[in-house]
Amino acid sequence: MSFDFKNDPFENFLELFKEAQIKGVPEHNAMALATVNERHQPSVRIVLFKGLVRRGFSFYTNYNGRKGRDIEVNNAVAATFYWPHLDQQIRIEGIAEKLTDEESEKYFASRPRLSQIGAWTSEQSDKIESFEFFQKKAQQVEAKFQGQVVPRPPHWGGYRIIPTEFEFWFARSGRMHERYVFQGSDLNWNRFLRSP
Ligand SMILES: Cc1cc2nc3c(=O)[nH]c(=O)nc-3n(C[C@H](O)[C@H](O)[C@H](O)COP(=O)(O)O)c2cc1C
Repeated sequence: MSFDFKNDPFENFLELFKEAQIKGVPEHNAMALATVNERHQPSVRIVLFKGLVRRGFSFYTNYNGRKGRDIEVNNAVAATFYWPHLDQQIRIEGIAEKLTDEESEKYFASRPRLSQIGAWTSEQSDKIESFEFFQKKAQQVEAKFQGQVVPRPPHWGGYRIIPTEFEFWFARSGRMHERYVFQGSDLNWNRFLRSP
């Protein structure tokens, strides 16, 4: 195995993530995020990983959408990165926690204006009458904020996933894949291999 694992899984993640970026893996920051609702129904969707915040994997979304509602009743989540060009997969499991208002505001302010308008327009995951209806609503929101800085909607912000497990998966021939697991928290991690 060519990768030199350190004891801190965050360091390993950051090194592999940077390598994926340098090697031009498309959407290398996209992760599949799984949540589970109060009826134990899982759901999964792609979100963009926006960096480690206080040793947690951050992403931004609408707090009132499906994933936000799931996390409200069950903060246990899982996320997976898959980089096909490198034949690598990184899985994490952990607990989701909202970022602070200051952290969410800082990120919201950096977003393109159209995305900021979208955050006010979309009642994410709810039924809509038609796409035209949604576009009209976006125009109304745009008119409302014309000439002003768009403030962060209170229902929009970030989470960080505080990991309790990392699994680094490297494809090998004959399906003899290598799976390196780190279980624990903070600076205290137990390291072992898992059968492919
Ligand atoms: C490449 C890609 C990146 C996405 N990034 C985000 C994101 O960062 N945040 C987000 O809320 N939705 C993102 N989405 C949309 C989600 O996959 C999903 O449709 C949306 O969040 C609603 O999910 P929910 O109804 O389960 O809450 C992205 C979709 C794709 C394909």
